[in-house]
Amino acid sequence: MIIAVDGLTASGKGTIAKAIAEHFELPYLDTGLLYRAVGYQTVADGGDPDSPEDALAACEFRSDLLRSSALRSEETGGYASRVSVHPEVRQALLERQRAFAQQPGGAVLDGRDIGTVIAPEAEVKLFITASVQERARRRWLEMQGREIDIPLDDIERDIAARDARDINRKDAPLRAAPDAMVIDTTAFGKEQAIDAAIEAVRQAL
Ligand code: C5P
Repeated sequence: MIIAVDGLTASGKGTIAKAIAEHFELPYLDTGLLYRAVGYQTVADGGDPDSPEDALAACEFRSDLLRSSALRSEETGGYASRVSVHPEVRQALLERQRAFAQQPGGAVLDGRDIGTVIAPEAEVKLFITASVQERARRRWLEMQGREIDIPLDDIERDIAARDARDINRKDAPLRAAPDAMVIDTTAFGKEQAIDAAIEAVRQAL
């Protein structure tokens, strides 16, 4: 059983996907981390995230980088968003994601193009959204918790820019698969969002 969880930046899809994986006892892959690793490595090598050549070279990152907390920063998220528009990069990361999805016992993957490109055969596809204001508010709260002080307006602008890059890129643009269930978490707290998603998976099985 493959469960694809796609959606917008800061929509809660990571939290939801992790909870689903735990609930149904399936292995879980956060595919955003792969793009984050490429973005981080590009800059660490002195490259430019907007250069397809530089970003492609960085796809050879060492796998222990995936455990680094540096990948979680907003800055790295911005680099990830920029390297992810290059078709060369998407292609380089494709097989690894497919192999994870197709392991015998099934898997949960979260990302932007799991239901459309990586695993269109997934039995369950969820697409998680929330308003840009609510997503910015959540990100802001999370930052405050980590004692990082960034104005809410700046966060909202950054999220809107990432949405635009994800939606408008030519290769694997962010779209809900036609057979995806859309869950809007704007009015939901964390537990409600998780419950709604687990219920949606149950219904789909
Ligand atoms: O989900 P996360 O914020 O960690 O993803 C970082 C960036 O990687 C996103 O802004 C998106 O542009 C890109 N990404 C992607 N395809 C995926 C996962 C992430 O393009 N499957």
